[in-house]
Amino acid sequence: MLDHYNRDINYLRISVTDRCNLRCRYCMPEEGVKLLNHNDILSYEEITVIARAAVNLGFHKFRITGGEPLVRKGVVDLVRMLSAIPGVEDLSMTSNGTLLSEYATTLKKEGLQRINISLDTVDPDRYAFLTRGGDLKNALEGIIAARDAGLDPVKINCVIKTSSDEPDAQAVTEYCKRNGLAVRFIQQMSLGLGKFAIVDGGSGGDCTHCNRLRLTANGIIKPCLFNNAGYDVRTLGVEEALKQAIRFKPESGSVNTLGSFYNIGG
Ligand code: 5AD
Ligand code: SF4
Repeated sequence: MLDHYNRDINYLRISVTDRCNLRCRYCMPEEGVKLLNHNDILSYEEITVIARAAVNLGFHKFRITGGEPLVRKGVVDLVRMLSAIPGVEDLSMTSNGTLLSEYATTLKKEGLQRINISLDTVDPDRYAFLTRGGDLKNALEGIIAARDAGLDPVKINCVIKTSSDEPDAQAVTEYCKRNGLAVRFIQQMSLGLGKFAIVDGGSGGDCTHCNRLRLTANGIIKPCLFNNAGYDVRTLGVEEALKQAIRFKPESGSVNTLGSFYNIGG
């Protein structure tokens, strides 16, 4: 469906949880986070209803995000439910990779096509520092499991401070070359300060070509990551929430003072 700025809005990013097993410094605040109430989280059935309604409005691209989507129980079931919807042509996931050695094969079998995995460093100490305690080994094993399961492409998301010349980013680039993986560099952003940038080799950050809406784990359709607007599927109804989010999608991002990456979906 076209919006007011002639953008064809056809891509829905679905956050299934605001929880995560890591605590990346740029994503989660030091003091910890106030998590969503379990009762407010959409069931997989509700998400499937929303995805069907989106397909009816012309959406064909869907991505499952978090927090970390694989910490939510049964997310493989959601993959099966979404991939079975006629019109869901492209089904992907964004993950930190740490649980993928367990899930990659099943995800592929149930219809996940491709995956983006976050990896900002290949130094174990730096990884533990940046993620506040994560084990690099889990992420690397997950990445290889995803590739070997036939998820294609496996893209590595590498968050950088300013440049892909930074030592961590260069080492990640080398690692990706050695392992036949694509890498994309994402500038560290700040929602509250309205600091965002075009994703190098990706589709984020380019407002004039932005084709996406986001669904939060508690059922709010967000037209833009860098905007406070949100439309509640439970109060407005699914179709109306989607239509209003498209109707009021801003021409470009500004600031978001209410949400964070972990609860809107990075
Ligand atoms: N800036 C840029 N990217 C971020 N992500 C999380 N927080 C930020 C931020 N402040 C990204 C992660 C991951 C995805 C889930 O969101 O790197 O790739
Ligand atoms: Fe978790 Fe991803 Fe946020 Fe890191 S960036 S804390 S892996 S949601």
